[in-house]
Amino acid sequence: MRPSSQPTPADRDAAPRARRGRFPARSRTGEDPALRAAYRLCRRTTRRHDPAIHALVQLMPAVLRPAGWALWAAANAVDDLADGPDADAAGRAARVAAWTEAFRGDLAAGTSTDPVRHALVDTALRWRLDLSGLRGAMAATRDDTRGRHFADWAEWRAWCTEEIAPWVDQVRHLFEQAGAPMTPRLDRQHDYRRFIDGAQLTDVLTDLGADLAEGRLLLPREALDACPGAEDALRQGRWSPAAAALVGTVTDLARRWVTRPALTRGMHPGAATVLDTSARLLRAQLDAVDAAGPALLERAPRPSLPTRVRILAPARLRARLAWSLTPLTVPAAPPAPPVPRRTPATARAPEPAAEDTALRTPPPHPEGARPPRIAADRMPAHVAIIMDGNGRWAEQRGLPRSAGHRAGNVAAREMVYGALEIGLRHLTLYAFSTENWQRDTEEIAAVLEATRRELDEGPVRDLDVRQRWSGNPGKLPEELVRSLLREERRTRARTGLTLTVCLNYGGRDEITRTAAALARAARAGDVDPDLIGEDDFARHLPHPDMPDVDLLWRTGDEQRTSNFLPWQATYAELYFTPGHWPDADRRDLWQAITAYGRRRRRHGAAPLVSPRKPAVPTRPE
Ligand code: IPE
Ligand code: IPE
Ligand code: MG
Repeated sequence: MRPSSQPTPADRDAAPRARRGRFPARSRTGEDPALRAAYRLCRRTTRRHDPAIHALVQLMPAVLRPAGWALWAAANAVDDLADGPDADAAGRAARVAAWTEAFRGDLAAGTSTDPVRHALVDTALRWRLDLSGLRGAMAATRDDTRGRHFADWAEWRAWCTEEIAPWVDQVRHLFEQAGAPMTPRLDRQHDYRRFIDGAQLTDVLTDLGADLAEGRLLLPREALDACPGAEDALRQGRWSPAAAALVGTVTDLARRWVTRPALTRGMHPGAATVLDTSARLLRAQLDAVDAAGPALLERAPRPSLPTRVRILAPARLRARLAWSLTPLTVPAAPPAPPVPRRTPATARAPEPAAEDTALRTPPPHPEGARPPRIAADRMPAHVAIIMDGNGRWAEQRGLPRSAGHRAGNVAAREMVYGALEIGLRHLTLYAFSTENWQRDTEEIAAVLEATRRELDEGPVRDLDVRQRWSGNPGKLPEELVRSLLREERRTRARTGLTLTVCLNYGGRDEITRTAAALARAARAGDVDPDLIGEDDFARHLPHPDMPDVDLLWRTGDEQRTSNFLPWQATYAELYFTPGHWPDADRRDLWQAITAYGRRRRRHGAAPLVSPRKPAVPTRPE
């Protein structure tokens, strides 16, 4: 589905400039040759497989280019696995699923042995991109292997939104992170989506011959039926008047979709140059499709060299000027890969984040327990815990319930230590629900006061933990809200573990507030209600970058979710344990993670991958 044309002299011209692109090196580990090689491979793949995209990446500032190559090479890798005559549909779907699963593990581990994923994971960490949105795109590519049929253009566009838009969105986030937003004005969101549809439609037209050779015709029935006889002719490899009419109509439509003059209004001029140039290249590509006629069935057409030079030469000048005027925000090096691969002999304390040299390492477990080694692809990215049973724990000991909550805080610290030691990236703790206001005032005060004290004085403050708070500020004591916000600010640059404390949190409350935010955006004309998708909703959540929960653990012998993270935990693996929360320690977290590693997750797909051996802990717990 991508142009597979060979590099041309103009593209080769671009190579020396590309070499001047800045390859990232981990400042704390010195030069990382594997990473540099990984990015170089991504650049080569981009240049070889899609010179137009390569030329566009060259219009980005040097510091962003490696990320551009990594994103494109990853999209291409997934696409390649789904294509090709070397395996049957189920086999191709299985390899896309395996790549996606491995990618999830790599993201959690912060590194990969696969070069393309290595570059992509580094890009995500370096630019703080939340790549969880790509999972849906990868699943859609996997499903392409079963063959695609679209009744109408609405269905066709829905496919685009699912499969292509998330990749383009990542490029947009990348620009945002660099402080040069490519974000379309909110009243241009519709144009933006259409533009992506147009880019995809251009690709479909360009690859028409190659796709037909593999039995694919990626156009909706609505379009095929409008030109009777066209489908039969194309499938037989004939260029009939009906086929020409169909291609002509679809090309016109694609041209309309990629012609969005107001799309770049208000954008950073450098980002606007990238997008405008991409529109020009797409229109030139559509001209080449028009001009190809029957040759379209033989090979992918390309605009002529003079045409490309006419578009790209002034764009390069404009881009260079625009970027030279803008100081970009370049984040610090990403954290070193987390600890799960350590062996006792080589185990070292994680290095502190560069900007916070006073960070400590977690105190060891009192009995010297060490985390099990979990294979990267078996590691959850996000564990959320319903810490239940404080009250019963206290009552069993004849203590007031407040003592149970204080003991519960000690267990919460233990989990943070365990999470850091095993290399978990996201831990979310349910500390007080919107329903817990029904308890007596004394107990409520005890829970909230214990939390405030933990925030102000607790040992977690000095660990490599980015603390965040999720919940409704209404009804919470002001002093507590101040402490929560202060810790968020103070720890926001930390990179080890993201700890989200859910305090005065209710899933329905979160969804209601998100819906209200979306309604406000619609009223302001910032989003089109007819086009609202899951992504739009997710973007309006209080913490849009929170990844989906992989493992939801509840202690206290109750098997319900009690209004906890309904949006983020729809596909979480559930894990219930009978003990009371104050009795839990980091070994229980490790055990939960180990149990998670044995689960088979399908996200709604039929079982495709043959069962793998369960992860076996290599270290006594
Ligand atoms: C969980 O423990 C902590 C909070 C809800 C604040 P509980 O206080 O619910 O303990 P049990 O379920 O009554 O034992
Ligand atoms: C859930 O526990 C809330 C927290 C752990 C903060 P609860 O004890 O309040 O939940 P229910 O009432 O048993 O469902
Ligand atoms: Mg309870």
